[in-house]
Amino acid sequence: MKFFIDTANLEQIKEAVQLGIIDGVTTNPSLMAKENIKGIDNIYQHYKEICEIVDGPVSAEVISLDYEGMIEEGEKLAKLHPNIVVKVPITADGLKAIRYFTDNGIKTNCTLIFSAGQALLAAKCGATYVSPFVGRLDDISHDGVDLIRQIVDIYSNYGFQTQILAASVRHPMHIIECAEAGADVATCPLSSMLALLNHPLTDNGLKQFLKDYENSQK
Ligand code: E4P
Repeated sequence: MKFFIDTANLEQIKEAVQLGIIDGVTTNPSLMAKENIKGIDNIYQHYKEICEIVDGPVSAEVISLDYEGMIEEGEKLAKLHPNIVVKVPITADGLKAIRYFTDNGIKTNCTLIFSAGQALLAAKCGATYVSPFVGRLDDISHDGVDLIRQIVDIYSNYGFQTQILAASVRHPMHIIECAEAGADVATCPLSSMLALLNHPLTDNGLKQFLKDYENSQK
């Protein structure tokens, strides 16, 4: 399973890259806003900086809701760097835009997926990635990981090439469960990935090893 970091924060992206566990980055307008970047030129510059830090796909989301606007924005985004993946919401105009981008060799990430039917439509249009939002489904008492399982089954029944990018992944058990379900990618904050590291037996074992080493040197 690939790990993407779900942030636009350059320091966190650098830290994750140094850990050697990062295959790509996802952003969305809310994550970009969190970094307080003002103006379209600065936003585009920020995407370029992310692409320089990570050698892998970087999702950059369109803001337009209409087909023409999505195409114009998506083409500009794709020109920023070869690793840019244009993130498009699952709407009728979004589907048309994904089909256009697919036919023109531009990679896409179909976002805001909350049902298997939406994921099926995104795959039909040739989306490179589909982003089912696990955590936001859990927030409304639906099982987000169940949706991942459903999409994995449907895609494997028909051999769809669209990669399942589990999004809105917020804690270590989400990552484990998405891996068990067969998601191709999980995108989450650095803190969730780091939480996978923790185990009290590792801490105790390390402490004991060091203690025994020190005693043996007296
Ligand atoms: C990723 O690309 C999604 O936009 C993101 O994972 C959403 O996460 P959230 O539900 O924690 O905001």
